[in-house]
Amino acid sequence: MALQQDAEMLVPVYSSLEPVYGDGSPLEEAQLRFDRLKAKFAELYGQEPEFFARSPGRVNLIGEHIDYEGYSVLPMAIRQDMIVAIRKNPDSKELRIANVKDKYPICTYPADPDQEVDLKNHKWGHYFICGYKGFYEYSRSKGIDVGPVSLDVVVDGTVPTGSGLSSSAAFVCSSTIAIMAILEKNFPKKELAQFTCECERHIGTQSGGMDQAISVMAKSGFAELIDFNPIRATDVQLPAGGTFVIAHSLAESQKAVTAATNYNNRVVECRLAAIVLAIKLGVEPKEAIASVKTLSDVEGLCIKFAGNHGSSHPGVAVKELLHEEPYTAEDIEKITEESLTSIFKNSQTSLDVLQAAKHFKLFQRASHVYSEARRVYAFKDAVSSKLSEEETLKKLGDLMNESHYSCSVLYECSCPELEELVKVCRDNGALGARLTGAGWGGCAVALVKESIVPQFILNLKESFYQARIEKGVISKGDLGLYVFASKPSSGAAILKF
Ligand code: ATP
Ligand code: GLA
Ligand code: MG
Repeated sequence: MALQQDAEMLVPVYSSLEPVYGDGSPLEEAQLRFDRLKAKFAELYGQEPEFFARSPGRVNLIGEHIDYEGYSVLPMAIRQDMIVAIRKNPDSKELRIANVKDKYPICTYPADPDQEVDLKNHKWGHYFICGYKGFYEYSRSKGIDVGPVSLDVVVDGTVPTGSGLSSSAAFVCSSTIAIMAILEKNFPKKELAQFTCECERHIGTQSGGMDQAISVMAKSGFAELIDFNPIRATDVQLPAGGTFVIAHSLAESQKAVTAATNYNNRVVECRLAAIVLAIKLGVEPKEAIASVKTLSDVEGLCIKFAGNHGSSHPGVAVKELLHEEPYTAEDIEKITEESLTSIFKNSQTSLDVLQAAKHFKLFQRASHVYSEARRVYAFKDAVSSKLSEEETLKKLGDLMNESHYSCSVLYECSCPELEELVKVCRDNGALGARLTGAGWGGCAVALVKESIVPQFILNLKESFYQARIEKGVISKGDLGLYVFASKPSSGAAILKF
C-alpha cells in the first residue's frame, strides 16, 4: 500500500551502521569505509570526527526534466552514498574540506556563510559550500541566528560522479546534514528536502528538487513518488519480479560546467514556452511574464484549450499554438513585447543561457514535459493496478521506452553512448530502458525480469563494455562500479558512535 510520509520526521541519528547498511557484506564494506575515513581524518587533523552524515545517490525511474516544471517524479535511492566526517575546529578560521580520494585535493574556504561560490573556477569542494551557505540562509529565514563556525571535514563518496545518479545531491545533502548535526539542529526532513534543493542552486544549476528530496526522504524497499509545492513523498512498492539494472555509458557529464548550454538552457526554454503559451491563450504579455514561471503554471489554460478540441491533454495546445521550427530570440520578443534579457534580468545563469543560445525549441521541450508528466502517473497507476505481474512489468517497460524516446528526440538530452547502451539493453531482453538523471552522458536504467538479471549483466559486459576495456577506457576489475542491479535503499542519516 502507498503510504505518505510523516512530514515532521527528522533525519535519524544512529550509533551503529546496521540500520543504514544492513548486514553481511554491505555492512563489512561500510565498516571498512568508515574505518578508512576515520583514519584519514586523524591523519589530516590529528583528531576524531564528532559526527558522520550520509546521504545516498538515486536512480530516477521515470519523470525526467520535469521536477523544475513543478511535476511529480518517481526515483529511488541507491546504496551508493556520500559520507561526510566533521568536527568543529576552534583553532582555525576556515572550512577545510578533504577527500579520501587523492584525485580531489584539499579545498579551504573562509568560514563566512555569505561568501560567494566562485562559479568561474569550479572546484569539487564548492558542493560543501553550497550546503554551508544554504544552511545559514535557511536558519536565518527561520529567525535562528548561528555564528560562523570553523570546520574540519573529510568526505568519502561512492556515487559515480557526473553519471545521472546524483552524486551532487548526495554531497550537498550529506554536507548540509553534517553541518546541521554539528550545530545541534535537526530540521524536519521535509524542510531539509526543500532547502537543500536551494543549497545546490549555489553551484549555478537551476535544478528542481528531485535529487535532494529522494536522498533525504528515501525508505529502504520503496521507490517514492515525489510531489512538489509542497514537497511530499509517497511510498511506491515496485513489483517483485522486476529488477532495475543501472549501466554507465562511460560518458561523464558535469552539469555545473555545461549549465549554460545544457541544463539551464532547458529550464529557460521551458519558461519561454510557458510564457508564449500563456500569451497565445489570452494572458496579457506583461502579466504572463510576471506570473508564469513553469509549464505547470499554464497547464490549466492548455487543458481548457484542449477541451475545446475534444481532448484533455495539454499537448494539444502545444501542437496548435507553438511551431516545430526553432524560435529565434526576435521571434519570441515579438510575442512577449519585452526583450529576453529584460525578462531574465534577475538571473545571471539565465542570461548566460541567452548569450550561448542560437535558438529555442519551445514546441519540443513543452511536448516532452507535458507527456513525461503523464507517464509518471501512468507508471504509478500500473504499479498499483490489478494487472498481472507480467502485464505490469511490460507496461512499466513500455513507459520507460517512451520516456527515453521523448528525452532523446524532443528534449535532446541523450548522447551517442547512451543511445548505444539503451539499444544494447533492449536487445538483451530489457523490458524497457532509458537514460536516467539529467542525461548528456551518465547512466541508463533498464527494467529486467529478476530471473534473467545475471545473464543480462553478463551480456552487457560483452556487448558494451568489453570493447571499452580493450581500449583502456575502464579496467575489467572496475566493471562492478559501472553495471549493477539496484534495490531501493534508505535515505539520509546521522551517525554518532
Ligand atoms: P546528475 O545530476 O545527472 O544526477 P551527478 O550529480 O553525478 O549527476 P553533477 O550534478 O554534475 O552530476 O555533479 C558531479 C560533481 O559533484 C562532480 O563533478 C564533483 O564536483 C562533485 N562530486 C560528487 N561526488 C564527489 C566525490 N565523491 N568527491 C568529490 N566531488 C564529488
Ligand atoms: C538533475 C537535477 C534534477 C532533475 C534531473 C532531470 O539531476 O538535479 O533536479 O531535473 O536532472 O530529471
Ligand atoms: Mg547532480
